[in-house]
Amino acid sequence: MRISIVGSGYVGLVSGMGFVKLGNEVIFVDVDEKKIKMINNAQPPIYEEGLEELMREFRGKYRATKDYREAILNSDVTFIAVGTPSREDGSIDLTYVEEAAKEIGKALKEKDDYHVVVVKSTVLPGTTDEVVRPILEKHSGKKAFQDFGLAMNPEFLREGVALKDFLNPDRIVIGIQDEKTKKVLEELYKPIDAPKLFTDIKTAEMIKYASNAFLATKISFANEIGNICKKLGVDSWKVFEGVGLDHRISPHFFRTGIGWGGSCFPKDVKALIRKAEEVGEEPIILKAVVEVNERQPLKLIELLKKHVPELRGKTIGVLGLAFKPNTDDVRETRAYIIVKKLLEEKAKVVAYDPKAMKNFKHFYPDVGEKIEYARSAADVLKATDVILIVTEWPEFEKLDYSGKIVIDGRRVRNAEETARVYEGVCW
Ligand code: UDX
Repeated sequence: MRISIVGSGYVGLVSGMGFVKLGNEVIFVDVDEKKIKMINNAQPPIYEEGLEELMREFRGKYRATKDYREAILNSDVTFIAVGTPSREDGSIDLTYVEEAAKEIGKALKEKDDYHVVVVKSTVLPGTTDEVVRPILEKHSGKKAFQDFGLAMNPEFLREGVALKDFLNPDRIVIGIQDEKTKKVLEELYKPIDAPKLFTDIKTAEMIKYASNAFLATKISFANEIGNICKKLGVDSWKVFEGVGLDHRISPHFFRTGIGWGGSCFPKDVKALIRKAEEVGEEPIILKAVVEVNERQPLKLIELLKKHVPELRGKTIGVLGLAFKPNTDDVRETRAYIIVKKLLEEKAKVVAYDPKAMKNFKHFYPDVGEKIEYARSAADVLKATDVILIVTEWPEFEKLDYSGKIVIDGRRVRNAEETARVYEGVCW
């Protein structure tokens, strides 16, 4: 199939390259000239495992352009995969989705065949039908489900393993209203062996929010139990190993520590809270889930102060700045809260992250420009005896922590075994 994808961020690019691997041709549409150039040179504008190799291998099967019209006229299906960032108040900003719908609508005017538009961006229930559909109809002069198809197909990709997740998902959720659209998407996803759940459009939108809210709840719940375990001298990781053996619960996503960050959980849980309030509900669980998560990184500082009561003038080593390993993404990283607190306490910070130092400095200049960046994790250990582990990069497992005070937010086993003083946040 010929596919166009509007927005070549994490989701757009990974899904697009996934479709290429499945034998389709893909045209990426983006407003960013730099990104377009990079994609056309087979260079990924973001770091994601396996992406560069895939882009090199399938050169010629995809391209990027600024021109919506050309991309839509030369494809059968268009995915909207632009960002839906959070506003100050937690609600989501639909500007990019609206802009994409407008441009797609204009191009649809010239199309005679049954073109299918698929919303992949995370949008609140009702958005595809109440916001995207009217814009498409207005600018194309055509009717959805009659002259062109419309569907909602949320993504459940985890950064770092996004390509693997795309090709081997737990499930594919497709929100549709008409049979023609259903057929097109069934055909498109045919090569992927996974349960396919067809729902109405609004349900598909809600499945994405409910999934992310549940996963965030699972971690905040585990962290709350973990904090109690810590006070009682119980190992929370063992506890959740035991809890997870119940097939109704599952052992995955139970790692206690300093909490969740990233581009999805914080944004999606907050947006769902806002929506709930808007419709007259009081989402007490969701609010507590966020509150636990905001406090959790500070547990690391609390433990640090048990061993180093006065931080003023002390050099503190921070291992990891990315919101999780195997990514350069620092959005909502717990490292920001931790480093900010350390600087407030007048400590000196020497940090190292294999991939995210540049982004950290760039996205958080208020703290990112006030810390020192080491060339390696070993250099951090040379610079100071007090180490905080913030992200569990595999290479931190190989360091020798002997003689060090290590406060661990993620449970790095060899730190636990080799450090002079070792404290874990929840264990
Ligand atoms: C998440 C969802 O998993 C994915 O389905 C959705 O599409 C986007 O959001 P991602 O943000 O890439 O993916 O990261 P994920 O691996 O889920 O981790 C999110 C955060 O939770 C990280 O900060 C991670 O460190 C933390 N986490 C995860 C825990 O603290 N404990 C765990 O057991 C798992």
